[in-house]
Amino acid sequence: MVHNVVNQPVPRVDAYEKVTGRAKYAADLYFPGLLYGKVLRSPEAHALIKSIDVSAARTLPGVHCVLTAADLPAEPSWCTYLFLAQDRVRYTGDAVAMVAAETREQAEAALKAIRVEYEPLPGVFSIEEALEPGAPQIQDYAPGNIVQNSHWPVRKGDVEAGFAACDVVLEREYRTQYIEHAYIEPEACVVVPDPTNNGVTVYGSLQNPYMTRWAVATALGYKQGQVHIIQQTLGGSFGGKEEQMGMMCGRAAIMAVKTGRPVKIVNTREESFNESAKRHPFRFRYKIGATREGKILALQGELVDEGGAYNSQAQYMNWRACVHAAGCYEIPNVKVDVYAVHTNKVYGGAMRGYSSPQIIYAQEQLMDELAAELGMDPVELRRKNALRPGSVTATGQKLVDQTVPLVEVIDTVVQKSEYYARREQYARERKQGGSKRRGIGLVVSFRGCGLGAETYDATGGLVTVAADGSVTIRSGLTDNGQGLSTAHAQIVAEELGIGMDKIIYTRVDTTTLPDGGMTVASRGTFTGGKPMLEAAREIKEILYEVAAAMLGCRPEDLEGRAGRIYCRQDPAKDISFEDAVREALRQGRTLTSFKWYQPEPPVWDRPRGQGKAFPSYTYACVVAEVEADMETGQVKVLRVTAGHDVGQAINPALLKGQIYGGVAMGLGMALTEEVEFDRGRILNPNFDEYIIPTALDMPAMQAILYESDDFNGPFRAKSMGEAATECVAAAIASALSDATGKTVRELPANLERVLLGKALKRGGGA
Ligand code: MOS
Repeated sequence: MVHNVVNQPVPRVDAYEKVTGRAKYAADLYFPGLLYGKVLRSPEAHALIKSIDVSAARTLPGVHCVLTAADLPAEPSWCTYLFLAQDRVRYTGDAVAMVAAETREQAEAALKAIRVEYEPLPGVFSIEEALEPGAPQIQDYAPGNIVQNSHWPVRKGDVEAGFAACDVVLEREYRTQYIEHAYIEPEACVVVPDPTNNGVTVYGSLQNPYMTRWAVATALGYKQGQVHIIQQTLGGSFGGKEEQMGMMCGRAAIMAVKTGRPVKIVNTREESFNESAKRHPFRFRYKIGATREGKILALQGELVDEGGAYNSQAQYMNWRACVHAAGCYEIPNVKVDVYAVHTNKVYGGAMRGYSSPQIIYAQEQLMDELAAELGMDPVELRRKNALRPGSVTATGQKLVDQTVPLVEVIDTVVQKSEYYARREQYARERKQGGSKRRGIGLVVSFRGCGLGAETYDATGGLVTVAADGSVTIRSGLTDNGQGLSTAHAQIVAEELGIGMDKIIYTRVDTTTLPDGGMTVASRGTFTGGKPMLEAAREIKEILYEVAAAMLGCRPEDLEGRAGRIYCRQDPAKDISFEDAVREALRQGRTLTSFKWYQPEPPVWDRPRGQGKAFPSYTYACVVAEVEADMETGQVKVLRVTAGHDVGQAINPALLKGQIYGGVAMGLGMALTEEVEFDRGRILNPNFDEYIIPTALDMPAMQAILYESDDFNGPFRAKSMGEAATECVAAAIASALSDATGKTVRELPANLERVLLGKALKRGGGA
C-alpha cells in the first residue's frame, strides 16, 4: 500500500520550536508572586527521625513556609512513599522538610537552618544482604525484604525432565548495575493556585500527567478534577519522570496552597540523582540445557532485582521480565522466578526497556557461552531455537495473527554487517598478537508491543476539524521527545488525505481528555495511534458523505490526497478538503471525534505464568564490533548494525533517530555507567563522575528497518522506543567477550573489569 504522509521521513512537528530555543520547559516558566521551593533530604540511608527543629528557618528573610511531615496529612503517594518522611528515612533521597521562599538563595539558606536529629539504623545495601535471614526489614509490609507483589513465576513443561534429556547443561550468574536515566533536563514543576475551581494548575516535565494528577490530588486531599495538569516540553524522560514528578508536584502543590502563591521546584542534577528512580540492578542465575545438535530443551532462571527503599514499579516490571526471561527462543521446558528485594538505596523504577536490556544482556551472554560449550556457531544456535510463526513462547502464547520475522531479521543483519567476514578477520588479527584486540558480537531479542496483559492498554484520541480545515489533535499520551506528536499527526494527515501543515498537535492537558494511561511500554504509536486513526476515520466518513452529495457520486468511490477529495473513477470530479469541511459544518454535522481504544481483557494464569502476554512482538538483531586495549582496559565501540522489525515505519527518520539514541544509551550501560554507593549514599551524583557517552564515543551506526505486514497496530506499526536500546549493551558485551576471550558476566565492562576481571571499590579494597 502506498502512503503519502505515513512511512515518509517528514520533519518533526516540534523541530522549529526546539532548534530556535522557543520551546518552553517547566523551568522556563515564571508567574507573578512566584516562590522557590526546596526540599531537605536525609543524609542517612536508614535512620529514625528523632526530632526536626524548623524554628530558626521560619524566621529567615523571604521564607514563606517551612513544612515537615507534622504539617501534612499522612497520605502516601503511590508505593507508600510519603511526600515527607514521618519518623523514619529509608534512603538518602527521602525528604524530611521543605521550604518556599522569595528567592532560591533564601530557600537554600532556610534548608541549612533546619536541624534534624537522626538515630541511624542498620541498613541493607545489596541483594544478598536483603535476603540474609534476620536482615533488617525495610518496609513493614515486606517480610524478608521481598517487594510486595513482585514475584512472577513461569512454569512451562517439566524442566527436570528437560535437563535430563540434555547433552550439555550450563549454569551461570550475571549481574547488572544501577543506572541513571541521565535526561538532559532535570525534573521541574510550577504549581499555581487556581481560584476558579478551588484547585491548582500544575506545569511540569511530566511523562505521566494523569498519574501526577492523582499524586497531587492525594497530597492536597482534592478531587482529581480540581487539579489541572498542563504538560510542558520534556527534555528527555526514558521512564524517569513518573513517580518522582508526582512527589515533586505534590510537594509544590502543598506549599502553593499553604502560601497562596505559585511555587516552583527545579531539581539540581545532584538532587535528581539522589531522589529519582534508577534502572533496577539484576542478579541472574540461569541454567540452560541443550542437545549436542544445539536444540535447547530446558531453561531455568532466578531473576532478582534490587528495588531499593520503595516499591515503585518492580511489581509491573517483573511481569514483563517473566514474559521475556527465556529470550526470543522456543524452549519446551521453562521454569523462571522473578522477584525484587528492598534495600536502603534509591528505588528502582521504569527505565527504557523496563528490564529487557538487563535480561537480554544476561540471556545472550548465556547463549554465547552455550554455543562455545557446544562448539557451535553462536548465530546458528540462535537461528535454530528462534521463535517462528506458530511457535509457543515460554509464557504459553502461540504466535499467530502477528508477524514473527526473527529469522529474517537475523539473516538481514548478518548480511548487512558482514558478520562472518569480520568475525574471521578479527580472529586472524588477534592471533597476530598486539595489545589491541577487536571482536564482534551478535544478539537478538523480542519485545511485547504496548502494555499487553500487564494492565488494560486503553487510551483515547481526539480529532477536531475547524471551519478553515485545520485539524487539532489531542492524545492523553505525552511526547517525551521521542516524536509521538509527529507520528500521531502523520497518522491523522494520512487518513484525512491532507498535508502535515494542516495539523495542530496539542500537548497533554488533563481537562481536555480522560485518563489514557501512561506514556510507557513503547505504546505511544502502537496503542496511542489506534484511537487517533479511528477518530480521523470517523471524520473522513462524514466528510465523504457530504462530499459525495456535492460531487454526485458514492462515498465509497471517494479518495483523499494532498487536501483534495476526488472520485476514484473520475479524478476531475473533486473538491477541496476545506470545501467539504465548510459544507459539513454548515449542515450542522460534527467534525469532532473522540475514540477510545479498548483492548481485549488481560488473561494471565499467575501461578504458572501462562497467557496471551501481548498482541504482537517486535524483533531485533544487533551486531556490535569493539576494540579492547589490553594495556589500559579501554574499550572502543567501532560499529553497531541494528536491525529492527518495525511492522511499518510511520516515520523512518524518527525511527532511525530512536535507534541511534538507543545505541548511545546501551553503550553507556555496557561500558561506563554505574551509580556507585557507599552504604546507600550515591558517590557520583553528577556527570563529572557518572560517565555517559558523548558524540565522540559513538560508533559508526547502521540502522535497518525491517518491515512486515503486522495488522495489530495503526498502519501496521509495531513498537520501537524501548526496542531501540535493549540489545545494545548485550551486543557490546558479546563483542568484548569475542575480543578478550573472557565472558563479561557483570556490567558495566569498565576499565577494571576488562583488565582485572573485577571492579575496584572507591577508597581501596575489593
Ligand atoms: Mo517506560 S520504561 O515503559 O516508562
